[in-house]
Amino acid sequence: MTLSTEGVFWCVMRTIAWNEQTAQLEMIDQRLLPGEYAIVSYSDYNQVAKAITDMVVRGAPAIGASAAFALVLAAQQSAASDLPGLRADLKRAAEKLNAARPTAVNLGWALARMLRRTADLEGSPDDLRAALLVEAQKIADEDVEINKRMAEYGAALIRPGETVIHHCNTGALATVDWGTALGVIRMAHEQGKNIHVLVDETRPRLQGARLTAWELEQYGVSYDIISDNAAGYFLSTGQVQRVFVGADRVAANGDVANKIGTYMLALAAHDNEVPFYPVVPTSTVDLSLASGKLIEIEERNEDEVLNIQRDGKPLSPAGATARNPAFDITPHRLVTAIVTEYGVVEPPFTSNLLQVVPRE
Ligand code: MRU
Repeated sequence: MTLSTEGVFWCVMRTIAWNEQTAQLEMIDQRLLPGEYAIVSYSDYNQVAKAITDMVVRGAPAIGASAAFALVLAAQQSAASDLPGLRADLKRAAEKLNAARPTAVNLGWALARMLRRTADLEGSPDDLRAALLVEAQKIADEDVEINKRMAEYGAALIRPGETVIHHCNTGALATVDWGTALGVIRMAHEQGKNIHVLVDETRPRLQGARLTAWELEQYGVSYDIISDNAAGYFLSTGQVQRVFVGADRVAANGDVANKIGTYMLALAAHDNEVPFYPVVPTSTVDLSLASGKLIEIEERNEDEVLNIQRDGKPLSPAGATARNPAFDITPHRLVTAIVTEYGVVEPPFTSNLLQVVPRE
């Protein structure tokens, strides 16, 4: 289904949603926004894995919830007539889904939670299929509720009239609904704090210029798009009071993996004594990794960097090559505090994250 973006409000639907009538997973195709608002439907978990790799859906929490529903599809697709057979099919599907993108821990977190649900269940394969759908819906509903809690905690940090910098897209589109760092910004706006947002355009895929700007338009938040390399200028000239970002994985010591460019932003914020806050559901914290050095960084196709055109022609010379890491690591020493659904966690993160992150 394709709709014009004119007059479309994002909350026409959640970013991803289960359609009870068709038993399919539906999602907004984020590659097309803001020009086109299209909803794609999936009945095959393999297609969902590809949608995650191709970034039809993106943002750590949205990827996690999509993978959870993809396992529901895998259960529907499985011809197994007994529980061991179905569990084996689900394990295979989870392995494939988990490989779709490496950096966001929410993917593995959601899949592990879904598989745990299958481990202790008794009954028929259809009972297990039904239980998986309930669990995936729970993951999706909890995501929205958690985001709203983080938004309240984060918005309390913002004073009226402040200007904040935001990197990438962490809004309703990056989650099931509402958003993490952008959810904080939206909450502060709804509280009447009269804030202004500098939106990092976020090369190379331009999630800021395309998706964050599109969301802010609809919330009525005042903003300007800036090129990523302008952030240091705005920070050093006293024009920014706070920085809010999301995260794809946070190590046990508080090191933060997030969209490429976050590290340089954090360095500039630190040098200018501007507070830097990742807004992070505890499902994004990976206590199994002692430091950010152990986080796998996805490197994507060079075309994402090279496919930039001027007057319809490639900008770079024929034969140019590029490197395209999708994320970087911000060391915890540059992080002022981490906003979670249980409150604002301050350093030292190694001990303080342990107080809030639930362990299985
Ligand atoms: O490559 P993307 O667009 O999936 O990267 C998204 C980010 O880096 C976000 O900041 C992160 O996933 C948190 S979204 C709530």
